[in-house]
Amino acid sequence: MSRGQWSGQLAFILAAAGSAVGLGNIWKFPYITGVNGGGAFVLIYLACILVVGIPIFLAELYVGQTSQKNAVSAFEALHKEKTFWRLPGWFGLVSAVLILSFYSVVGGWVFDFEFRSVIGEFSNQDETFISNRLGTLFSSPLRQLFWHTLFSLLTLGIVVGGVKKGLEKWNKILMPALLVLLAILFVRVMLLPGFSKSLSFLFSPDTSKLTVDGLLEAIGHSFFTLSLGMGAILTYGSYLSKKENLWKTAITVAALDTAIALFAGVVIFSVVFTYNLEAGAGPGLIFSTLPVLFSKMPGGYFLSVAFFLLISFAALTSAVSILEVVVTYFAEHRRVSRTKATVICSFSIYILGLLTVFSTNHLAEFKIWGLTFFDLFDKLTSNYLLPLGGLFTSLFVGWILGEKAVQKILSSTNFPQWFHNGLLWSLRLFAPLAVVIILLQKAM
Ligand code: TRP
Repeated sequence: MSRGQWSGQLAFILAAAGSAVGLGNIWKFPYITGVNGGGAFVLIYLACILVVGIPIFLAELYVGQTSQKNAVSAFEALHKEKTFWRLPGWFGLVSAVLILSFYSVVGGWVFDFEFRSVIGEFSNQDETFISNRLGTLFSSPLRQLFWHTLFSLLTLGIVVGGVKKGLEKWNKILMPALLVLLAILFVRVMLLPGFSKSLSFLFSPDTSKLTVDGLLEAIGHSFFTLSLGMGAILTYGSYLSKKENLWKTAITVAALDTAIALFAGVVIFSVVFTYNLEAGAGPGLIFSTLPVLFSKMPGGYFLSVAFFLLISFAALTSAVSILEVVVTYFAEHRRVSRTKATVICSFSIYILGLLTVFSTNHLAEFKIWGLTFFDLFDKLTSNYLLPLGGLFTSLFVGWILGEKAVQKILSSTNFPQWFHNGLLWSLRLFAPLAVVIILLQKAM
């Protein structure tokens, strides 16, 4: 069976950036930055991207590109003995299924907010009405189901088209559109009085506000935001021609992902500070706080339509990368057609998503280890499975493949030897150590 391939480096960069830029950048990054006091947290996050994120990103990309196989077979192909090293691939598949099941429901919430923005539900309403919208959505399983269905169908529709005619084509449309929307929002908030305060909040570090928890959150988030630990970058890398340069590609994607998170942060905090709101409002920041502000701002109608459209695009291009991991594996292992594999995988994950839909209403009181299904899937993957997947991938490339892999990754650069050693030891020691530290902390 022919696997398909990206048409070139640019197509891959857009797709990988599409995967990386998602709810993590626009919803999660601003709110955890707010909760952790701003600048100092941003600085730590940037350091984590450099020291942990980029090496693991390169490792996944290398395993994918060299093997040209799905997340499970890739490890086997590079290490003939079918041993322990299938583990990261399996972790990836389980994470992908769990993550997509709730990602698609949250993506549905974003669709719902986009719809409400378009019909003007946030215009000329009082604050309590607007900030209660998320609550009313939560208490309506049918409404959530409707958007979850739409989100799942769109994801399926893109993935079914295959690498070139589905993923590549849609990322080429949605990613530039996302950049344009972000640029428009950015120019608009430059005119707000809160703009300069938001810059100093994000970029002047005040170390007294930094906590150990914040540090751990920064490492964990550097995984999530770069789509690491689940074989997504690996799978996308497996469609990359063997002649493409890995180093440049990885740096470009990481830089784009980070820049978009920072720009989104500036947009959101400029609005927050203009109306003297609490920066540490938590997860409700974009769903409860922002719509209230949009309703008060001149031109707020268009801003809110643009803002939720931006997040919808970001969520969709990330969701397709998660589904792709499962579909590639299923199609290649079970030897079924891509279309059949996509429909079966997508439908199964859609059904699993019902547990998240009901987590905010009928099953809100049903808890496992004190967590609803939604929280359980989220915590289990972000806190354990993704870091473990990243840990094993890093060790695999660092120790089993070793110097040869590092040389290939850096082949078209002319970095000095110390840089090669630095990357090798990041993979062998520093990145795994960082992961072990997070896991130990979380376990305590
Ligand atoms: N990176 C995406 C975000 O920031 C989410 C995502 C897509 C992801 N693919 C992934 C997270 C793979 C972990 C693993 O929202």
